[in-house]
Amino acid sequence: MTVVPADLDAYLGAHDARITQELFDFLRIPSVSARSEHDVDTAHAAEWTAASLRAAGLEATVHQTAGHPVVVGEWRGAPAGAQTVLVYGHYDVQPAEPLELWTSPAFEPTVRDGRLYARGSVDDKGQLFLHIKALEAHLAVRGKLPCNVIVLAEGEEEVGSAHLAPFIEANAQRLACDAVVISDSAMFAPGLPSILSSLRGLAYFEINVQGPAQDLHSGSYGGAIVNPAMALARILSTFHDASGKIAIPGFYDAVAEWPAHVRTQMKSLPFDDEHFRAEAGSPALGGESGYTVLERLWTRPTCEVNGLLSGYTGEGAKTVLPARAMAKVSCRLVPDQDPAEIERLMKAHVANVAPAGVTATVTHLHGGRPWRAELNGPLFDAARRALAAAFGTEPVITGEGGSIPVVGDFARILHAPVLLVGFGLPGENAHAPDEWMSMENFTTGMRAIATLWDELGVQTP
Ligand code: BES
Ligand code: ZN
Repeated sequence: MTVVPADLDAYLGAHDARITQELFDFLRIPSVSARSEHDVDTAHAAEWTAASLRAAGLEATVHQTAGHPVVVGEWRGAPAGAQTVLVYGHYDVQPAEPLELWTSPAFEPTVRDGRLYARGSVDDKGQLFLHIKALEAHLAVRGKLPCNVIVLAEGEEEVGSAHLAPFIEANAQRLACDAVVISDSAMFAPGLPSILSSLRGLAYFEINVQGPAQDLHSGSYGGAIVNPAMALARILSTFHDASGKIAIPGFYDAVAEWPAHVRTQMKSLPFDDEHFRAEAGSPALGGESGYTVLERLWTRPTCEVNGLLSGYTGEGAKTVLPARAMAKVSCRLVPDQDPAEIERLMKAHVANVAPAGVTATVTHLHGGRPWRAELNGPLFDAARRALAAAFGTEPVITGEGGSIPVVGDFARILHAPVLLVGFGLPGENAHAPDEWMSMENFTTGMRAIATLWDELGVQTP
């Protein structure tokens, strides 16, 4: 049975305090990719990542793009015949707002009850950083790694990764690899290491409804002019039928059957609906009828409102007929739905149902393809052994409702299998106030990844 190698374990234990302090430094950088006022911080986080890779013993370069920089770290000293493994992660984070709902400030990392609270702690700086430290342990203790390594860290994952696929295409030779490893997801439950078998894709839209040229007195005009807020509400109400199915014509045409063995695995996972409901703090569960919660989350597409804006929303009452209304709407996609086709269907549907008397426009903001793993072969066997060694229990195979847009591109451009092993936990508040990462998962995850390199080293491509 595989165990965590004693030399690496001792190194990580001896350097624990310094590693934690460095992680805090990383988390203090407010690298919010969505906000241009943070561009200088995002650039700083890219440089910080490169410096951290160099300190670990890799060569690192920072590449400017039309968006945020891409960081590439490399170590190519493995013996002839060894495989090349690419580690991907992202150093950008989601906006921290609403700031007043954080117990401690978002960019002042704070540990309470074994949880490290900070924006980006789990998504994804903590998980990217544990990879860098696992590499550092190998290079510090043994002066070498069993495989050639490429680390690819981007700063636009949280805004759709628009410039990463072109970067990978332009550098396909340099980034050529036999496997991709990513930690940007969660374990199914505490103590239960997990390998992801799927991710949903995404098609993100902004819908604008324009009525009169300016806001109007709702007494002088109300009842005789089409109200854009009501028009938008009517448009949104056509997205689902009463059973929770998406009613946009053609929406399900490309949805593929889910393999029977994956459905069986899903049913064997310890999942409690009521626990899930309570953790979400929601009065009830909902969704498409005929499917379990995990099936809804992992195997079915969605069409959700992410934001709404119209009219007067300040204190008290204002009698006004708004000139315009806006909704942010995103669809999570499953194999084999294509974001470009969903864009076409959404635009045709909104044009068809928009009430007369207003102008409705749909803009596609970004998209990403869904992804499903093969889950067999030496990469996954190595991952199973390494996770079992570090966590003391065999990993489970899970699905995921979230998206990592570049994953499909790795398969498409680099033709390499992708292993997704995440060390987050349910309830970790990613994208929300009080995001946290379990300190125990950080250190155990680091040991699992350090072990994974040895397991990958015994394989040839
Ligand atoms: N780390 C997440 C992906 C994820 C989400 C994994 C939920 C596990 C559970 C990633 O950083 C993320 O948030 N992705 C975005 C992608 C989008 C902006 C294109 C997402 O899923 O919303
Ligand atoms: Zn995220």
